[in-house]
Amino acid sequence: MIICTTAAELNERLAGARKEGQRIGFVPTMGALHRGHMALIRASVTSCELTVASIFVNPTQFNEASDLSAYPRTPRADEELLIAHGCDFLYRPDVADIYPNGDQESAAAELDFGSLTERMEGAHRPGHFAGVAQVVSRLLDIVKPRVLFLGQKDYQQVAVIRSMVRQLDLPVMIEVVETVREVDGLALSSRNRRLGPQERKAAGLINRQLSAVAAGLLAGWDPEKLETAAMDAMQRHPLLNPEYVEVFTGHNLLPYRGGPAAAEIVVACAVHCGPVRLIDNRIAIPSNP
Ligand code: PAJ
Repeated sequence: MIICTTAAELNERLAGARKEGQRIGFVPTMGALHRGHMALIRASVTSCELTVASIFVNPTQFNEASDLSAYPRTPRADEELLIAHGCDFLYRPDVADIYPNGDQESAAAELDFGSLTERMEGAHRPGHFAGVAQVVSRLLDIVKPRVLFLGQKDYQQVAVIRSMVRQLDLPVMIEVVETVREVDGLALSSRNRRLGPQERKAAGLINRQLSAVAAGLLAGWDPEKLETAAMDAMQRHPLLNPEYVEVFTGHNLLPYRGGPAAAEIVVACAVHCGPVRLIDNRIAIPSNP
């Protein structure tokens, strides 16, 4: 695996592959890599001729300084995992390489995400998606991949990036990879490393509650009542503090309140567990083909 720390070096190294028209797959990450990230790498290695991963803990998407400074960093282990999974290039820039003119400039700054960023992470983490759109548009401009691999774990992030790609008319396809989970259902996340043993055990309840809501929705129960029941169940646990549980329609991310749906129905949540804030979602009712 070739490791590049600047966009100039990466572009020089990729020039040959680009000239030959090789299909480049790209997996952007913030490092502290785990099996969830590796599912994305595997998807890219399987379907693309060349796989580029990036590791960049993007300061502009963190709305809390403490979350940014505590974000886990495991550079050596990350390299080993990427090599073991067949990644060809790792782009690991510093802030100056990503934002050479300061971090105020953004090709994505003028975009309107409408209802996609009104609720859930958009409402609870002010500025988060502007930062995500900013860094992903910059990374796409540097890497110029044919395919961008994203995890369903960050459902709202996928919706925002899809919208950004459409609005900027970027020549890239998006492939979404299913969420990888621990045996008890907890979605893998870099932040899970910061959970103590009791907190780790408590975090298993998050996915069980999402599964209960999904089952209730399939049975035709009232979405709002299911949201409240899941919130209450998690609130009752001394180590969990849920921020939201929301049932929504996949195409616009607006609340789903029952009746026929044109797109998939999803339930998502954010829950504080010890020092970390965890997010997860489940597709409760797939869209009609
Ligand atoms: P990060 O949290 O490192 O995640 C990188 C990619 O891995 C995202 O597409 C995310 O959805 C996916 N991912 C994380 N956990 C997963 C799991 N358990 N199963 C499957 N996929 C999983 O998301 C970001 O970084 C950043 O916002 C980024 C897009 C890199 C922009 O800075």
